[in-house]
This record gives sequence, C-alpha cells and structure tokens, in this order.
Amino acid sequence: MPADPIDPATPINPGDPELGDRLDPGDPRDPLGLRRDAPLLDAWLSFTSAARAGRLTPFTIPGHKQRTGLVGEVVSGDVPLYAGVDTMKQSGGVLAEAERRAGQLWGADWCRFSVGGSTHGNQAVALAVGSPGRPVVVSRTLHRSVLLGLVLAGLDPVWVRPELDPVTGLPGGVAPAAVAAALAAHPDACAVMVGDPSYAGGCGDVVGLAAAAHAAGVPLVVDAAWAAHFGFHPDLPPHALACGADAVVTSAHKTLPAWSQAAIVLARTTRSGGLLDPDRLDRGFEATHTTSPTGTILASTDAARALLAAHGKELCGRLVRLVAGARSQLAAVPGLAVLESHPGLAVDPAKLVVQLAGTGAHGHAVEADLIAAGFPVEMADRDTLIAMVTLADDADTVAAFVDALVSAVERHRGPARTAAPSSAWTVDPIVAMSPRAAFFAAHEQVAGDAAVGRVSAELICPYPPGVPVLAPGEVVTAEALAALRAARADGGRIAYAADPTLATLQVVAVTDAARD
Ligand SMILES: Cc1ncc(COP(=O)(O)O)c(C=O)c1O
Repeated sequence: MPADPIDPATPINPGDPELGDRLDPGDPRDPLGLRRDAPLLDAWLSFTSAARAGRLTPFTIPGHKQRTGLVGEVVSGDVPLYAGVDTMKQSGGVLAEAERRAGQLWGADWCRFSVGGSTHGNQAVALAVGSPGRPVVVSRTLHRSVLLGLVLAGLDPVWVRPELDPVTGLPGGVAPAAVAAALAAHPDACAVMVGDPSYAGGCGDVVGLAAAAHAAGVPLVVDAAWAAHFGFHPDLPPHALACGADAVVTSAHKTLPAWSQAAIVLARTTRSGGLLDPDRLDRGFEATHTTSPTGTILASTDAARALLAAHGKELCGRLVRLVAGARSQLAAVPGLAVLESHPGLAVDPAKLVVQLAGTGAHGHAVEADLIAAGFPVEMADRDTLIAMVTLADDADTVAAFVDALVSAVERHRGPARTAAPSSAWTVDPIVAMSPRAAFFAAHEQVAGDAAVGRVSAELICPYPPGVPVLAPGEVVTAEALAALRAARADGGRIAYAADPTLATLQVVAVTDAARD
C-alpha cells in the first residue's frame, strides 16, 4: 500500500471561517459549541474523550472496543447508541431528547432519527399508513426505496405522474388535480406518497397536494430526501410539514453536514389532530431499523439539527448566494443551460443542475475530467450534470469547482444536440400485478428481447437517480427495455438488475403471472 499522503497533523475539520467569531476556542472537536444544545452530540463527545483518554475498557459490542490497534483508523469514532452514547438500558434518554428537539424545530409531534437513510424512513412510513391490499396514490418517479416499501407493506400503487417541464424535460411536482382524481377513483386509498423536491430539484405544490389528500381524509407523505435544508431561509421553499404534509422523510446526510446514512423521519400525528397513528409509525420504524444503531450517525444528526437551529438562516443564506453566483457564471458559458426557476417549474435555489446538450459535451466525459481534477459530482448523464453544493461549501470551493467545470466543458465541446429526457422521468408503466405479488412470485430468467410482453419480477433503474424504469409487476415493454439499454450503452450504471448487461431479464413465471 502507498503511504497515506495526508499529514496527520493537518486539521481536517477546521471551523467554518465565516462563523469565526462564534467559534469555541475551548473545544476544537465542537468548534461552534453545538453540544450545549445537542444531547446526543454531547454524549458522543464525552464518550470519545473518555475512550481516547484510556478510561474505558468496554465489554460490550462493538468488538473493536474503541481500539484502533487491529484494523486501524477505520473504526475510530464508532460509538454505539446502546452502551455508548447512552447506557444499554437507554437510561439517559439522550436519543429521545434529541428527537424531541428535532420534532420541535420542524413542527412535528413525532420524530425519529434513522441510521438507514431515507431508504429506511420511506419503508418505515409505508408500513404505517395502511394494510396489505390497500391502494396508495404514489408518484411514479419515486425512489426505489418507496417502491420496496410498498412491497414490504403490501400496498397497491395507484400511479400519478409529475408534470415534465417542456423547457428542460425535467420533472416538477405532481399536480394536486391529478392526486385528487386518483383519490376520487380509489376511495379506499390509504395515503398519498410523493417525492418532493425531485432528484433534479423540481419543487411541486405541496400545499395543494396536502389539501387534495386531506379532502379525501388521507395523509400526505413526502419523500423529501433532498430537502433537509428547506424552510431555514426565506429564499428557500418552506419544508413539507410547514406546507401541511403529515409525514416527511429526509436524508440529513444529503444536504446537511451529517454522517452518511443519517435520516430524519418527522410526522404530525393523531397526538396533534393529524391522521397518522404514532404507534404504527413507531412499529414500522422499529420493524425495519437495525437494533445496533451507531451513535456516531445519530450524534451527527443531532449536531446538524443544532446547527440549523443556531445558524441555519445564515448558512442557508450563504448557500443560496453561492449557488446563485455559480449559476450566473455557468449560464454565461455558450451553450450551457443552468436550471433556474421559470414559469412552470420551481427549482430548489440550492441545487446546481447544468444541462450540457447545447455545448455538445458529453456528461460522462465532463464528469471524468472533474473526477480527475478532484471534483467528483453527484450525478452526470449525457445531457445533465448535478453538483451538490451544501452548507459545508464556501466561496473558494464553489469557485474552484466552477472553473474546473467550465474547463472540462470547453475540452469536450462539440456540435450542439437536442437533450433527451431521462427514461426515469418519462416511464409510463403497464401494471400487470401488484409489486408485492411480483416480488414473491416464481420467476424465470429469459433473454432480454424475449422478456418483452412478460411481467417483470425485478426492479431495474439507471442510478442515479434510482427511479425504477421497470418495477416488479410491470409489463416489460420494448420502450422500457430500449431506454434501459440506451442508458447502459451511454455509459450509465444499470442498478439492481440480476443481469446488469440486460442480456437477460427476470420475469414472473407464466403460472404465477396468470394467478394474480
Ligand atoms: C428521492 C430519494 N428518496 C430516497 C432516497 C434514499 O435515500 P438514502 O440514500 O438516504 O437512503 C434517495 C437517494 O438518493 C432519493 O433520491
């Protein structure tokens, strides 16, 4: 192995210079003094201090016992929730207190911190809203985790589709009228589930969606995985709970400075006049969460919440300014289109999405150059590139990124082409069976072309964005197969398929397809 080129003396987490006058010189491990308002963070800092000082010899899991002597730094900082940031019996109540504070910040009466990402949050909520066989109105551009939540819960999706913006080909929100029509056609539906904002930052009319759901007496659940920052600055959209949603799932790790996998699930329940049962939410949450959550992820969620509470407005204000500046610089590059709110599509002001078709540059080539220059991005396909700018960025990081992006585009410039909307946004499935029936059905593997007309047993999507082009129970159409093959031929990753080459597909066996 080559030697680690990082000088161990280099501080990797200096405090944010813009918040300099508020840095706590007494504790470099908590430069903003967030622990005063963050019980889990406080417990994590105390535990790790004791461990580093050699005052702890735990006879509990994890088996590395706070020692890095065997596998090295990779286990440093790993502290369990049980017998770590709290006692095995949870007698400190620090998690419950941290969740209570988060609920208060977002205006929810029920809040849980997950170490399983929004993936787990979506599945937990799916288990809480209905019972097997009940219809649920769901946006078809959902993330795969929602679809698998429906499989777990046995809910039958009634698909609604977000409107595609004619200017950019990107999805906006689902129209409240479409949801109202679906609810009218399915009066036994138990909930409405949408993703908002979309992966590309398109924001819908959540107030209208909540009104449509509530008029039918059902809760609105919003997968807001990309919107943990919403509501913390007047230039950002309000968060979904403030718009009337009943439950919100958000990935703290996507837009806030929290550990990977950190997610928050928030709800307004029957305890405060809402529609969701808090006990069912708890049961759904526990059924699908690990029994050994790491306190490190939970403490970082608590820290991110305390950061938003104390400095959210100024940090979100800086974020919006940085993105606005980057957008206007990039928009000046000939042929480069930058996603901005315009009539018909509201866009998260913190999202940096560029469309490359007018430059002729291929997104994968631009991405490869960016990676080589040390700037990996969230997503790139032929025509679209999404870069995550977050509260952790500053003017220097964004300026350096914009320079690198402009240089990469110039290097790969070519004849302008027409942008093709991603198959993830345009898919219009033919449903033959419920996702759950197809998931558990006997299946067979057939040649890709022979699969056309059969019922898919598997979920297949280009990743990112992780929106299924084929879901279990849907008829494999020639269009869906061609779209997946085109995404692969263009260098995209085809995720979750048993055979990612798509030479073969798994379809429901004829006997089981006939049975449903
Ligand atoms: C819309 C949406 N929902 C849910 C998820 C899952 O989030 P996580 O990675 O936190 O499990 C993602 C992941 O990208 C997503 O894009």
